[in-house]
Parts: sequence; structure tokens; C-alpha cells
Amino acid sequence: MSNEAAQMLRATGRRPHIAVLLGSGWAPLAQRVVDPLRLPYASLPGFPQTGIAGHAGELLLGRIGAHEVALLCGRRHAYEGGDVAAMKGAIDALAAAGVQTLVQTNAAGSLDETMRPGELMMLADHLNLVQHSPLVGERGAARFLDLRDAYDPALRTQAREAARRAGITLHEGVYAWVLGPQFETPAEIRMLQRLGAQAVGMSTVPETILARHAGLRVLAFSLFTNMGCGLQAEALSHAHTLAVAGGSAPRAVALLEAVIAALPA
Ligand code: HPA
Repeated sequence: MSNEAAQMLRATGRRPHIAVLLGSGWAPLAQRVVDPLRLPYASLPGFPQTGIAGHAGELLLGRIGAHEVALLCGRRHAYEGGDVAAMKGAIDALAAAGVQTLVQTNAAGSLDETMRPGELMMLADHLNLVQHSPLVGERGAARFLDLRDAYDPALRTQAREAARRAGITLHEGVYAWVLGPQFETPAEIRMLQRLGAQAVGMSTVPETILARHAGLRVLAFSLFTNMGCGLQAEALSHAHTLAVAGGSAPRAVALLEAVIAALPA
């Protein structure tokens, strides 16, 4: 199925080499795409069905600066039906169509008092606390994937520099993947802090594993929408996540534009 979708992508004549997966709050990057071609996920074999407010469910092909890009507007989360490999068809198709780098984005809770709501973090590493893998059922040696450099060290250096030049504060830390969709308890947040995570969220890790398996280099960024449960007075909700994310979108989009511009051609 990914081959079929890859053929459809190639038939558009577009040649994206960077894919950007837009999570909650990051969607306004789509407005920066020049010469956009919109392909609903429903028209692409193997692409997921999405059903979350703030996640559109379409692939957007076009240019950002000098780069041809493919924007994944919307992801299907593992908590939507239990499928941790929901994004496999999309990621494999993009890789087969020539994409070499996946830039991921998400909304996350902060576990670190120095990383505040509205601020941005680049993932240095992750904790797969769901302890499930999108590679279950794969065959061959490639499934025994080395995740030492899951988030590409050279690209991270370039992204760090790009953020500094753009004057955007970019934290760096470890992202803990939890299944959700419920938020954590205060005890769970204390546990995650002790495990060495700075961010907690319900996405990104399975897509990183899938992308590394497909041979892509990965960068990933979190937009903090809240302090972890118990670290702030305010109650958590999806509406709160979207409201804070919306307010911080201009900075998030500026970061992505600066990072994409700094990526290799
Ligand atoms: N926990 C898990 N996922 C999240 C959070 C959180 O606090 N905020 C945004 N996504």
C-alpha cells in the first residue's frame, strides 16, 4: 500500500525531501507553504484516518524556502484505536517517494520548572513508556533497530544553531511517551521526573521508530502547553492544550521555518 501511495506522490511531480508532521499547535506552518497541493489522507492508500480536533488529515506538498516539503497535517494517535503503527503507511510511502528527513512536532507537558508553557523543546532522546512497538510483526534484521541516535545529532546541532540565530529559546531534553488519552496523575508526573524526562506527551515516539526503520533522519520538537499535572494550579484539558498552543503558534512556526531553512538540500 505504501508503494501505491508513493507512486501517487511521485505522479504529482513534486519531489519533497523533507516531511514535517504537524502536531497540536503547529498547524499554522501550513500557511507558509508556497504552491500548495493538498491531498486528503483518505485519497492516499495506507494513510490514516484522523479524528481529533485540531488535526486535519491531509498531506500538503509545496515549498518552504528553498526546500520541497511534505506536511503531514494530522496524525492518528495510538490512543485512538490502540494501533501504535497507525502512521506506518504514511511514513513508509514518504520514504519510498524520496523523503529523507522527518521533522516531528507535538504538544507536551513540561516536567521541568525551567521549561515553561509556551516554550519549545527539541527532543534529544525519548522514553517509550508504552512499551509497545510499531515494528511488532516486522520481519528481518532491520526490525532490531539501533535507536542510539534516534534524533539525528548532526541535524540537532544545525537546529540549535538555527534557533539561536533566530533568537528563539529552544530547550533540549527527553520526551516520555505515554498512551493517554487521559492526562497523568501527580504521582505519575513525579515518577516521570525521576526517570529523567523533561517532557511528557501522547505521540511522536512510534513515528520516530517507524521513520528510523524506514531509513529517515529525525528531528522532533515539543511545544509546552502546560506544566505536568500537579506542577501547576490550572486543570488540564484538550481545550487548554489547544488554547496555549494557539497562542504560541507564531514562535513555533518561526522555529520550524528557521530549522527547515538550515537543513541540507
Ligand atoms: N501530558 C500528556 N500529554 C500532553 C500534555 C500532558 O501534560 N500536555 C500536552 N500533551
